[in-house]
Amino acid sequence: MRATEILKNEHRVIEQVLCAVDGMADQAVQRGTLDPQSAAQAIDFIRTFADKVHHAKEEDVLFVRMEAVGFPRDNGPISVMLRDHDSGRAYVRAMAGVVEDAARGDAEALRTFASNAHRYTEMLREHILKEDKVLYPMADQSFDENDQAELLTAFAEADKKSGAGLHDRYAELARTLAGQYQGSKRDRPR
Ligand SMILES: [Fe+2]
Ligand SMILES: [Fe+2]
Repeated sequence: MRATEILKNEHRVIEQVLCAVDGMADQAVQRGTLDPQSAAQAIDFIRTFADKVHHAKEEDVLFVRMEAVGFPRDNGPISVMLRDHDSGRAYVRAMAGVVEDAARGDAEALRTFASNAHRYTEMLREHILKEDKVLYPMADQSFDENDQAELLTAFAEADKKSGAGLHDRYAELARTLAGQYQGSKRDRPR
């Protein structure tokens, strides 16, 4: 398996949570209250699995190797991806900041949670599409066998550092959240 296939598989897990986040935000607005436990679980998934596990593999391993074979970091596709990762972090910070008030039924907090949740999911879906369809194929074309082997080793090391069982735990959480908050209609076909 190529390193980019590992990343694509992680995208499929992340997409389950994007659906759940949309459903959670819509339900919170409809009911006038946010379930703080589900919100905390979704935010933990995004921060731990999407950001620490997945985005770290991209930022610390894949993009670094892409730079080594000639892709610029400060302009072009890598800089766009890095900006997306940063704006995702800002949306999630905004969501996390209003969970308590939204759970108490504060209308402004509910609106803030929902708008940041939807902006986040929309941005990350586009981001994933760009990576799956453009960035990863471009990277694979530029890597030789040695690059591919080293990427796999680096990914394995990164996962080892994250701790045994983490992938299974978060895959299970993604399934649970997706089951709890049925898929939003915002999903677009590929
Ligand atoms: Fe990314
Ligand atoms: Fe990604």
